[in-house]
Amino acid sequence: MSHRPVAIVTGASSGIGAETALALARRGYAVVLAARRADRLQEAAERCEQAGGLARVTVTDVAVEKQVKTLVAGAVEEFGRLDAMVNNAGLGVFARAHETTTQDMRAIFEVNFFGLFYGCKAAAAVMTRQRSGHIFNVSSVLGKRGSPFHGAYSATKFAVCGLTDALRVELMPYNIRVTCVLPALTATEFFKGSPRGRAARSGFRKWQGIVPARLVGERIAAAVGKSRPEILFSAGGRLLTVISALWPRAADAMMRIYLDDLVKNLK
Ligand SMILES: NC(=O)c1ccc[n+]([C@@H]2O[C@H](COP(=O)([O-])OP(=O)(O)OC[C@H]3O[C@@H](n4cnc5c(N)ncnc54)[C@H](OP(=O)(O)O)[C@@H]3O)[C@@H](O)[C@H]2O)c1
Repeated sequence: MSHRPVAIVTGASSGIGAETALALARRGYAVVLAARRADRLQEAAERCEQAGGLARVTVTDVAVEKQVKTLVAGAVEEFGRLDAMVNNAGLGVFARAHETTTQDMRAIFEVNFFGLFYGCKAAAAVMTRQRSGHIFNVSSVLGKRGSPFHGAYSATKFAVCGLTDALRVELMPYNIRVTCVLPALTATEFFKGSPRGRAARSGFRKWQGIVPARLVGERIAAAVGKSRPEILFSAGGRLLTVISALWPRAADAMMRIYLDDLVKNLK
């Protein structure tokens, strides 16, 4: 049994996940870092230990339910409980919705939605027994408004928001908190992989500005134990969700300009 609070962060080998693990470590947590790349996880874990946390690495593919169950069981076996579960692992598919292959659509749901769902189930099983804990599900502002070239991605993130809202209320009687994290454009490796990804990033940058990953990690770590249904970042991110809810045609007009910019950037 650890005297430290205990957290699991998925997608902790880079970006928002690595920064969240580090922010929790600074607060003295025992953090279990999970993702597929062992070397990058190890580097992130070393930074956590240098910052005063206790860090463990569990190589995990969140798309495989058995691996997620093993991740959570391993953390609880070693540290005796689970205070925060950060379901953050995710990826993008950058394609027009009607041109997205069925294979790509299924693959992104396996990680962004099912991987997160497995994390919720495994964490909730522990936390309902404890009658305490906090689950963070990382969605996106694109989980509130679909965007051109992000149809598949937005679909997964809308699914995350819906699941998270239901879970939040269902787990209230168990004293468990559930927060939906809605980052806007954040400086990570997310868009690096493809020319379309880079074009999408520069298109968004014009509208939203760019948030440092460290800020997202800090905000998540600071919210543990607090009743926060959602966490939003940057004025641009907030504005997008408000305009989409109140003036869908204005949001369409903005997205049309974004689409034209993106296509121009690709040429
Ligand atoms: N960057 C943005 O602008 C932005 C905006 C809104 C929301 N988000 C969300 O923030 C989350 C983190 O993304 P990021 O921006 O930090 O991007 P990132 O730097 O690319 O990090 C993605 C993380 O997810 C992990 N991952 C991917 N597939 C996985 C799998 N099958 N199993 C386990 N881990 C997996 C990656 O690790 P491995 O490759 O080592 O497995 C990596 O650690 C994602 O859910 C993303 O959708 C990002």
